[in-house]
Amino acid sequence: MVNSLYMSIEGKSVIFVLGGPGSGKGTQAIATSKKYSFGYAAAGDLLRAEIADPNSPNAQRISEIISAGKLVPPELLVETIRRAIVRSPSQYFLLDGFPRSLAQDEKFCAQVGQATACVMLDAPDEVLISRLRKRGESSGRCDDNDKVIPARLEAYRKETVPVLEKYEKAGLLTTVNADAPIEKVREDFENALRKYWTF
Ligand code: AP5
Repeated sequence: MVNSLYMSIEGKSVIFVLGGPGSGKGTQAIATSKKYSFGYAAAGDLLRAEIADPNSPNAQRISEIISAGKLVPPELLVETIRRAIVRSPSQYFLLDGFPRSLAQDEKFCAQVGQATACVMLDAPDEVLISRLRKRGESSGRCDDNDKVIPARLEAYRKETVPVLEKYEKAGLLTTVNADAPIEKVREDFENALRKYWTF
């Protein structure tokens, strides 16, 4: 089935996993990629690794942007993502939390290629807020608190929803209800991927 799909760099099929903050992108994409040996990268993790790297010239700037709940500009991210996809031995690659804006999507298309599809995890704001607050009790993340959560939701609405609309218009968006127990979301998430991938 993969032969008729849009391909990115080096014949890899990339599916974007998007959804509001706390919708379960990481929870679902990490478990599924481990189970089936798909390639996986999370934009947020790549950025946090950059912050933790004492040799990174961008650490301070990225840290300030994330602490404000805003989006890091595409040029700081797309090349790192491209390298992660190229390195992956798997033909299938799940990209978590990217692209979060049309500008990122455009840069990805230019530097990496066309994504196969986009899977969106959908849950109401109040569910997202309650999950993030709960995780904030132990995560130590600088953005899991009531000061930053509204800005993350706003950035999602303003910047990321237009990306979802673009893929929907192209017939390349599948929406999964993320307001359900983790196992149920997993089943629906895997079924969404099976529309595009054979596994
Ligand atoms: P990022 O790290 O991507 O965070 P996010 O998108 O805000 O989402 P989270 O990782 O918090 O949530 P998730 O959807 O992965 O859910 P999770 O599985 O963790 O980004 C952080 C920041 O980095 C951004 O604000 C931005 O500043 C920057 N950034 C990242 N990507 C960028 C990009 N492309 N461009 C520019 N800047 C970027 O689950 C959340 C919680 O809910 C967990 O505790 C989990 O256990 C629980 N949970 C999950 N599913 C369920 C369920 N079904 N039922 C009950 N609980 C559940």
